[in-house]
Formats: sequence, structure tokens, C-alpha cells
Amino acid sequence: MKKRIPVIAGNWKMNMTVQQGVELVNGIFYGLRFVKDVDVIIAPPFTSLYKISEVLRDTYISVAAQNLHWEDKGAFTGEISPSFIKDVGASYVIIGHSERRQYFGETDETVNKKIRAALQHGLTPIFCVGETLSERESNQYHQILSAQIHGGLVGLSAVEVEHIIVAYEPVWAIGTGVTASTQQAEEAHLMIRNLLAQNFGAYIADEVRILYGGSVNAKNAKELLSSENIDGALVGGASLKADDFIQIIKAAT
Ligand code: PGA
Repeated sequence: MKKRIPVIAGNWKMNMTVQQGVELVNGIFYGLRFVKDVDVIIAPPFTSLYKISEVLRDTYISVAAQNLHWEDKGAFTGEISPSFIKDVGASYVIIGHSERRQYFGETDETVNKKIRAALQHGLTPIFCVGETLSERESNQYHQILSAQIHGGLVGLSAVEVEHIIVAYEPVWAIGTGVTASTQQAEEAHLMIRNLLAQNFGAYIADEVRILYGGSVNAKNAKELLSSENIDGALVGGASLKADDFIQIIKAAT
């Protein structure tokens, strides 16, 4: 068995009304009943965070927000602060997802501010990195991943980094049905772990869980998750169906 406890996180993105979300988490919870040795996380939209956290209280499933603002309160119309996320019962937050970087102007600098704010409030960041197709094809992905890891974690202490979950999500594999091969993913994960070791020490790098994301489904999960440096999955599309998500969780156990 792997030393690091695997994580399976479902990113619902901008899907699911409150009622639909409640039905989905009930389906997952009762479909699985009991899981051992895997951390299960659900990231609903902000509008159902409170309700879903309530439904899942005292279960093995934890709740994540999909984003946050780094300020604690004030005149930031439309933004949600880390303390509000804590207040409604979530304990994780996805930060720097490629859709936020691509469509909402997030940069390594804002990602860094968000990671710091999350940690200060006791939220565990799920910190996303990943290269685009052209960056992979032009063989720049090593530099890109290195810049994202460095920029996102700059100024953090090793103890802080130990509490972070990293998600490697190649942009070309998100929502496309094209999954990175296990070999491609393993290589990127190992590279990320080495970067963490260089910056924060081998002990920390060995502790941090690195998830793979990008078209993970019930069929390909088992092989991906069996790879040495792949410690779990960040699942988009397949997390919207209870049966598929359950299969992926089972693949991690
Ligand atoms: P996908 O999304 O599983 O639908 O490819 C993954 C993600 O964006 O986190």
C-alpha cells in the first residue's frame, strides 16, 4: 500500500443546483457507505456549499470551495473570503484551476496570495498547476510547471507547504476526454515532487499529495492511481455521476 493516503476530489465546476447537489452527495454517500484509507472531497459551487456541508457533516466526505478571495472582508463585490468558506463548513479550497487562470485572469501571484490566505484560515489548498497543449508540444512544460510551482508557493515555509495538496492538471486533458498517459502523468508528478524537494526539502516533498486531473473516469482511474507518484485524482465531469465517482473512489482504495 502507498505511504500517502490517496485523495479523490470531485470538482463540480458551475454545475448542480442545491437540490441536485444534495441528491448527488446522498447517492455517493449511500452508494459507498464506508471507505477506508482514502480522503474524499466534494467541491460544489458556492451557492450550495453550506447545504452540502450540512448534509455531509459527520460523514467521511469533506467539502471544498472552488475559489476564494485573499482578503478577509470588505468592499470586494462578488468575492468570497476564506473565513466565509470556513464558516459554512468547508475545509479545503481549490486554488489556481486552469479555468480560473484562463478565463478570470488568475496569475501565479494571485494564486500565491490565495494559498497564503487559505492556510492562514486553516483551509487546505488544492493548488492546481498544468501546461497547455502548445506548451507541451513545444517541450516547455518543465519550465511552465516549475514557474507555476515556484510562483504559487513563493514565501511559504516548509511546514505550510506540507499542508498543501498539489493537483497536476494538463490543460489539454481537462474536459477533453484525452487523458495523459500514466507515464506522462507520472513523469510530471515526479518532476513536481523534485521541485518541492529542492525548495522545501525531501521530507516535505515526500509528504505532499499530488493529484492528477484531466478526464479521469471510472475506466482509467485504477491504472493512473497505481502509479508511484500519483496520490489521487481531481475529477471534473465524472464527479457529476454518483456511480462513476464511486468507481473512482474504489479504484483508490
Ligand atoms: P475533467 O476536469 O475531469 O472534466 O477533465 C478536471 C478538472 O478540471 O478538475
